[in-house]
Amino acid sequence: MNHDDLYLKSVDIIKLNQHLSGGYVACPTFSIYNYSWFRDSAYIAYAMNLAGEYDSAERFHSWAVENINKRELQVRRMINGNLDNYEDILHTRYTLNGDEGSDEWENFQLDGFGVWLWSLYEYIQLSGRVLTESMKKAVKLVSDYLSVLWVKPCYDCWEEYRNEKHIYTMSSIYRGLQSVDKLLNRNSYHGISIQIRDWIINNGVTNGSLCKYEGSDAVDSSLLGVYFPNNVLGNRDPIMRRTVERIQRELYKKGGIHRYTSDTYYGGGIWILLTAWLGIWLVDDGKYLEAAEILDWICSKADINGLLAEQHSESLNDPSFLSYWNEKWGISAKPLLWSHAMYIILYKKLYPDK
Ligand code: BGC
Repeated sequence: MNHDDLYLKSVDIIKLNQHLSGGYVACPTFSIYNYSWFRDSAYIAYAMNLAGEYDSAERFHSWAVENINKRELQVRRMINGNLDNYEDILHTRYTLNGDEGSDEWENFQLDGFGVWLWSLYEYIQLSGRVLTESMKKAVKLVSDYLSVLWVKPCYDCWEEYRNEKHIYTMSSIYRGLQSVDKLLNRNSYHGISIQIRDWIINNGVTNGSLCKYEGSDAVDSSLLGVYFPNNVLGNRDPIMRRTVERIQRELYKKGGIHRYTSDTYYGGGIWILLTAWLGIWLVDDGKYLEAAEILDWICSKADINGLLAEQHSESLNDPSFLSYWNEKWGISAKPLLWSHAMYIILYKKLYPDK
């Protein structure tokens, strides 16, 4: 499939898999992904904005706002009460109807709420539409929630390592709080966001480059997010540049990017969305040809119907884990809407006028 066709197809796939409620399903054919994640959806809504699909983005943001506001009491209990009372946390994902769902899940994750605030800000900027009163209410609730909880270890964006403080997560909270100040035209969260930024510089760097979590000496591809969208470090910053060099050196294989070297989920393959993420960095770094090669590589991974999966198995960290996951949950999720969203973002970076 050529890259223009895959762009159009990606927009269609996202539209088709947006539930009537406004929630975006993470993957329609993979039953445990039959939920809307704040993290995935923040990027999906942003991609839809770039594609000019403001109604789709608005419907998702309204879904998010409704589901946050209806949990106002529990969020306030959390903010004002015992921070270890995990009963009252916001979940990282909800069913498309906005319920908790019955499966056990690693629900205590904070990054998705940070990037959601950023995505809402971008939606308002790009669409020129108004921030409604109920949006404002949800934005303040989530910001207060993040402002008190950022100090707590939580699951990372891969839903692992519960007891650590993750650098990508911290950067997402920083970005979310900065976005809210711009959205509300105030300075309410400036102090705390700067504190988080300083925390990242002081605790998130090992041997001159960013690390997966505080105290770790491993690198993780989600650290690309510290640059885009979270903008804690710019692309001229030596720490950020060394981090990306390390990602390219250690995690870039057979044309695609792994999450981290000891990842064993589905054997630890190469991820479409992460590869697109590297492409976004490359465009901003002026390396258009390399970024275009990545775009082509992603096109070559789309199936005959233009569907993109979560990951591919031609380069596995540990092949012995593949059959375990295949037997447990079936083959790797496809289509993964987040993969399509990152493709759209990269495509629009390379071809802003198309
Ligand atoms: C990934 C998460 C993602 C979820 C839904 C998980 O396997 O680790 O980052 O949010 O799938 O796509």
